[in-house]
Amino acid sequence: MTDVIVAKTAGFCFGVTKAVEKVYQQAEEGITPIYTYGPIIHNEEVVADLERKGVRVISDEAALEQIHEGTIVIRSHGVGRTEEEKMRSIGLQVVDATCPFVKKIHRIVSKASEDGRSIIIIGSAEHPEVKGIRGWCGNSAYVIGEIEEVETLPALDRVTVVSQTTFNYKKFKEIVEKIKEKRYDSCVVNTICNATQERQVEARQIAGAVEAMIVIGGKNSSNTQKLYNICKDVCPHTYYIQTLVDLEPQGFPNVRSVGITAGASTPKNIIEEVHSYVRSKL
Ligand code: F3S
Repeated sequence: MTDVIVAKTAGFCFGVTKAVEKVYQQAEEGITPIYTYGPIIHNEEVVADLERKGVRVISDEAALEQIHEGTIVIRSHGVGRTEEEKMRSIGLQVVDATCPFVKKIHRIVSKASEDGRSIIIIGSAEHPEVKGIRGWCGNSAYVIGEIEEVETLPALDRVTVVSQTTFNYKKFKEIVEKIKEKRYDSCVVNTICNATQERQVEARQIAGAVEAMIVIGGKNSSNTQKLYNICKDVCPHTYYIQTLVDLEPQGFPNVRSVGITAGASTPKNIIEEVHSYVRSKL
């Protein structure tokens, strides 16, 4: 008896669904030119499909300065205040698809820094969402990605701590405990998105119950990378693929049960393709 378990939480989260829908909607309305500030999601297939519909990706502020008309979509990661202002000031029509959960973090850090509090973001300094959050508190926030980095924090008085929405919950708690040893007057807001937590918890459960696990997602997607690490921890036969094409050449071990999960940027059709392939092989 063989078994394939597909995670219920696999694939697009609420914020990504909305952002992708907004871009397709603009393209279908025939609005041109259309740009997205960074790829709308970390998925090459979706980005290529949008490109065929005339949607171009603007990669940074320098490229932004080269355009003077059209519509620009801010993706679910959000952007900093100055970038948003720049888009408007050069005359672009701005469609803001920032996820409401990320917007909430912008409001928290903006208000806290106005109140004179220092901001600590638990997350990856290079992640666009974290760069965007920093942009709502004067780019002055401290970013902590690893527990050892807490030692580098200076003496601070009043501190507000937030998290990148896709950060690992267990690691977030460990870092918060370490920050508490600093004895700041701190206010900690757990801003990890439920979609991420639920996906991680379910992935760990499934990976612990199967002989092989497949994690589907873009190679630059940090939430998929985290899912992969979680699964690999409990299931040594864990595969990280972008599409079915990556799985076929690797072959498949002789197993009786397989689990499938996918990052927040993985379209349903890719998950279904992998699911059908695995069923046909078992
Ligand atoms: Fe938003 Fe959570 Fe997705 S923050 S973009 S719903 S992972």
